[in-house]
Amino acid sequence: MTHSNIFNGVPWFDDEGRPVNAHGACIVEDAGVYYLLGEYKTDDRNHFIGFSCYSSPDLIHWHFERLALPMQADGPLGPDRIGERVKVMRCPPTGKFVMFAHADDLGYRDPLIVVAVSDTVNGEYRLLGPLEYQGQAIRRWDMGTFQDTDGTGYLLLHEGDIFRLSDDYLHADELVAHEIAPGGESPAMTRTDDGTYAIMFSNKTSWDRNDNYYLTAPSPSGPWTLRGTFAPKGTCTWNSQCSFIFPLTLADGRTVPMYMGDRWSFPHQVSCASQVWLPLVYENGRIALPEYMETWDPRTGNPLPWDGRVLDVALDSNVPGDKTTVRFQLDDERRLALIGNADRTGGYAQLDIADDDGTVFSSLVDCYAPTRSHGLLFVSPPLRQGAYTATVRVTGDASVFYKKDGTRLGSQGTRVSITGMTLLQN
Ligand code: GAL
Repeated sequence: MTHSNIFNGVPWFDDEGRPVNAHGACIVEDAGVYYLLGEYKTDDRNHFIGFSCYSSPDLIHWHFERLALPMQADGPLGPDRIGERVKVMRCPPTGKFVMFAHADDLGYRDPLIVVAVSDTVNGEYRLLGPLEYQGQAIRRWDMGTFQDTDGTGYLLLHEGDIFRLSDDYLHADELVAHEIAPGGESPAMTRTDDGTYAIMFSNKTSWDRNDNYYLTAPSPSGPWTLRGTFAPKGTCTWNSQCSFIFPLTLADGRTVPMYMGDRWSFPHQVSCASQVWLPLVYENGRIALPEYMETWDPRTGNPLPWDGRVLDVALDSNVPGDKTTVRFQLDDERRLALIGNADRTGGYAQLDIADDDGTVFSSLVDCYAPTRSHGLLFVSPPLRQGAYTATVRVTGDASVFYKKDGTRLGSQGTRVSITGMTLLQN
């Protein structure tokens, strides 16, 4: 095991060196193991390939278990469909693991919430079909789930509808809150220690980030009070979109709600989309993410800064093909971190790491961010002892996408601005 901190906003690699491909994700804890279930993206298109399941003993080192629900032969999650925002809860009365997800056509014109089941959290889930309320399929897109302390399951929807699920979680039984967040997407909910419920939403900016906000209530059925943003205004929720809130138990036994957000990178979501996970602070009836931690220790909830040998290298250009190369020698296993600027004009860089026998690692690196930041842009998988060169090149490509109403969003340029590299010790 190479490191003991969660690195925010950079892709992670599993125990086989492949990107951890689980987005719009959730975590289920089962028998002392964390399972991450999320969207298994492609690097060029937006169609459904499957929902993935990874396991970890510590939220840091991940092992690919399987596609928990692969593309089906036909139906709502068949070929040329969308599958998003997968969430799984273990249903207390039946013991089954129940999966919920948004299924749609490629133009987002056939939204459905689908339900699937498995006997084990990391098994292959059996798709049952659309989730129904009063015999009708629920036709909404962005969704989340919430399991209350008494085991009651809830389905959360964009615009702020909340349904209480049936005891077996296979139907929606009651609409307990209606349109509490008009214009809100990607709902996520938690219950604080004093029994206050908090639900968060993003605004509708497709794969882009915005200032997410939250509401609180004494019960899931309300009354809900709008509270405003939970991260400092203008940070675009620390450059992320909320997806899930996981009750994280720290080493000292305290449980804190952990915010899980996506830093999307359309279209290169496998190589560049990443996670932003941060413990939420709850004080005086308000939840907050007052500070961004680039890296932190999930055993304590505290920042655990990265450190290492600094390589002197710089590149600042938007001309495709411009590049910089640095040579380095490793006497022990290290990961190469790219440090630089990300802003509204950022594009994709190409990183190539080679030894004497040729390329050992390559990836795109996203330098786009709606809120300007300077820091870690990328961290490679561990590199063995040896002599290497690392080359960063401007590709001329950038993260650009269109809202469901056709508005162009994403980067305004193709700039790559690297200010250094570090050979990470931790
Ligand atoms: C977002 C939504 C994502 C995905 C995306 C597509 O607003 O939260 O789940 O649907 O739009 O543009």
